[in-house]
Amino acid sequence: MDFTRRGLFGAASVAAAGLAVAIPEAQAIPKKGAKHEPLQNFKFDIENSEGWFGEGGSAKQATVEELPVSESIAGVSMRLKPGGLRELHWHAIAAEWAYVIEGNVRATVIAPNGQAESADFGPGDVWFFPKGHGHALQCLGPGDSHFILVFDDGHFSEFGTFSITDWITKTDPAVAAKVMGLSAEAIARIPKGEMYIGQGKVPPRVPENLRNGDPSTNQFPHKFRLGAMPPQHAYAGGQIRIVSQKEFPIQNTVTGALQDLHPGAIREMHWHPNADEWQYYIKGRARVTIFGAHGRVATEEFGAGHVAFIKQGFGHHVEQIGSEPTQFLAMFNSPVYEEISLSQWLAANPPSMIADNLGLSVSEVEKLPKRSQGIIG
Ligand SMILES: [Fe+2]
Ligand SMILES: [Fe+2]
Repeated sequence: MDFTRRGLFGAASVAAAGLAVAIPEAQAIPKKGAKHEPLQNFKFDIENSEGWFGEGGSAKQATVEELPVSESIAGVSMRLKPGGLRELHWHAIAAEWAYVIEGNVRATVIAPNGQAESADFGPGDVWFFPKGHGHALQCLGPGDSHFILVFDDGHFSEFGTFSITDWITKTDPAVAAKVMGLSAEAIARIPKGEMYIGQGKVPPRVPENLRNGDPSTNQFPHKFRLGAMPPQHAYAGGQIRIVSQKEFPIQNTVTGALQDLHPGAIREMHWHPNADEWQYYIKGRARVTIFGAHGRVATEEFGAGHVAFIKQGFGHHVEQIGSEPTQFLAMFNSPVYEEISLSQWLAANPPSMIADNLGLSVSEVEKLPKRSQGIIG
């Protein structure tokens, strides 16, 4: 009896809460003449933005300030001159992922268990520093380095992180002197305010030992050689290299995909069930079209230095344009890579259902692709 009463009570609660349940249901049904918010802008020209310039390098950012749709992912295009030092710092609200486009960088990072790692990164290499882990970067030369930093929070600002000079020089000098074991005169020489990017000496080719003399490397390496890896997916129209947590265990919040499109290729219509997609165009040009349901589509053209943002679940495709091959980096805010393509979906249904749905003849349905096509040549 008690069971029944509880059952009835449960049913009544659902009925009472019926309004909350019914509204999303009603919205799922297409309504003639219904007004929907227009799609948000999904393009930002990061390389032509103002950014920060200093003696040792520069940085330009794409956060929700610059591209409001990009709530989940922020990016920074950073350049360092030989010896240029992105000073010791940490990020309180975001993990940092990076892809090196040009030049060579030495990075150090410390984990809460005290393990530290120093590693050198060249073109095609990726690093991942978990949220809050202290790190620093220095350009090894020859020539400048250029890398794309990606953060797993669109509200992150590279210009508002926790830097060592800022912290020490805002601390009572007597406290800083006692903690660091230095004279007041030495503390007074530490650069005032936040250095951010400074100019140092080019580090020696052979890495020095860490100050603590501990040569042990971190048990979870922070480095992954994405560019040097054979692509997991090679198609007539190009190739895709994916680094998810499966390939790079420490990288537990994001996935990266380096995509190369030959001239005339199309990255086929698809969507990502589990993640937003943030793109940075490294070279070449492309036209990106997004589908945001309720008849809403938008197309923008992208070239080197442009950022795109595609919301989770939005349909999209990329058309390569121009005679130069196109390369872009796609970042996802999930450590697991998921994709469903139009071709794959159509192949996963009975022919008569597809014929009825699309108004095609059975012989036309026969011609549809039977598996995902990735990049069509
Ligand atoms: Fe950082
Ligand atoms: Fe995609």
